[in-house]
Amino acid sequence: MTQEPAWEAEFRTNGAEETQALAERLGRVLRRGDLLLLTGELGAGKTTFTQGLGAGLGVRPGIISPTFVLVREHPNLGTGPDLIHVDAYRLGSEGEVDDIDLEASMDRSVTVVEWGRGLVEHLSDSRLEITLIRAVGGGPVTDGGAEAGPATDFEDTDEERTIRLAGFGPRWQQAPDLG
Ligand SMILES: Nc1ncnc2c1ncn2[C@@H]1O[C@H](COP(=O)(O)OP(=O)(O)O)[C@@H](O)[C@H]1O
Ligand SMILES: [Mg+2]
Repeated sequence: MTQEPAWEAEFRTNGAEETQALAERLGRVLRRGDLLLLTGELGAGKTTFTQGLGAGLGVRPGIISPTFVLVREHPNLGTGPDLIHVDAYRLGSEGEVDDIDLEASMDRSVTVVEWGRGLVEHLSDSRLEITLIRAVGGGPVTDGGAEAGPATDFEDTDEERTIRLAGFGPRWQQAPDLG
């Protein structure tokens, strides 16, 4: 297991659509066997990011949080890899990860694991770690007037996120071109 990233890259997005657009560009360069770990607090945007990955990969739409099923499989609509979307929040050990047998599908799929850090690194010699960070203090950033009224629907408020990518292992010696 590789401990030092070959490279790190940082992006800022403003709103879910920008996060999905970034993830969509990444999704287009992913290949079968790729393992992605998504880290970030509840509501940081891990599932939102995965929706963009799915769009870039060309899998069947309808990606939602897999929290209550642990694993969801989204078949590719063309010839590209399927997407295996995992929520490891309730998994306590590498042994429990091995019980759900992600290895069986890994070679033909892209495997994306929310809350995967410390649990799934052993599944591959390479991985892409993605960390989503909410602005400290939360709440919408305003320019002093544009958002005078109180926000009533926090779920749909565009917020800033910092998104860090780090590549580990032979597959990710080079940073992908997301330009
Ligand atoms: N820049 C942003 N990137 C991603 N999501 C954002 C952003 N700004 C606001 N949001 C909102 O934050 C929420 C993220 O939820 P979700 O993707 O389910 O998070 P997680 O899977 O990390 O718990 C969504 O309601 C989304 O619309
Ligand atoms: Mg989620």
